[in-house]
Amino acid sequence: MLYNSSRKGSVRKRGTTPVPVDAFGFRHGVRWPGGWIKVPERVRALQIVTFTDYSFGSNTYLVINEEEKKAVLVDAGVPASQVLDFLKKNGLELEAVLLTHGHPDHLLGLKEIVEATGAEAYMHPADIALIKNIPPLFLRMLGLESLEIPEEIREVEEGQLLRLAGLEFRVLHTPGHSEGSVCYLVDGALFAGDLIFRGSVGRTDFPGGSMRTLVQSVKEKVFTLPGDTRIYPGHLDSTVVGWEKKTNPFLLGI
Ligand SMILES: [Fe+2]
Repeated sequence: MLYNSSRKGSVRKRGTTPVPVDAFGFRHGVRWPGGWIKVPERVRALQIVTFTDYSFGSNTYLVINEEEKKAVLVDAGVPASQVLDFLKKNGLELEAVLLTHGHPDHLLGLKEIVEATGAEAYMHPADIALIKNIPPLFLRMLGLESLEIPEEIREVEEGQLLRLAGLEFRVLHTPGHSEGSVCYLVDGALFAGDLIFRGSVGRTDFPGGSMRTLVQSVKEKVFTLPGDTRIYPGHLDSTVVGWEKKTNPFLLGI
């Protein structure tokens, strides 16, 4: 027994002190008389590893649950070997690939990663339709001749909660850069794809793009999050919501 809660003739319940949280808002334990005990279901050593592709500068993120040795990949814009080698070296099982949108620079390693790991890929249906009929001109603009995609991609929708690798990812549908662009929110981290960057926003001149829609998505879905929510974008460095609200020249006063 961890503590003695009973007395003769009465039951005495001990209270807990406020639970400390780390930068991601994870609870690490509860203070009891005599020290700390860990609360296993609350202890989650989440780590984020960033892979950046040299050709397109697109970011691929590996979200790792250290406790369970499981991981989720957000986008797949790097050669598959980079991700597969990392997984192998660190003894990690890849459970899913969450795709923020259907542009080829975020999908280059997708098919190989999915086939090698058995992980399931997820994307918004509007962008699944886009990649199934991708215009050859669009590929050539990126210097690509073709793009291989897995046969099965699972659909995500606004507000959906995905329980993967022992973590909970909330889907936010945020069109503007493309019709099926989504963000994934896991605790204090937002994987934003090409919706918003540090000091900039995603381009809106590709099929399905709209600057007006993009700004609306940021206003309703991103700027309503706590100011210290960390944004992990599809290109460039990470940032935080509060900083972009104050300084992003494309989004001032929205
Ligand atoms: Fe994009």
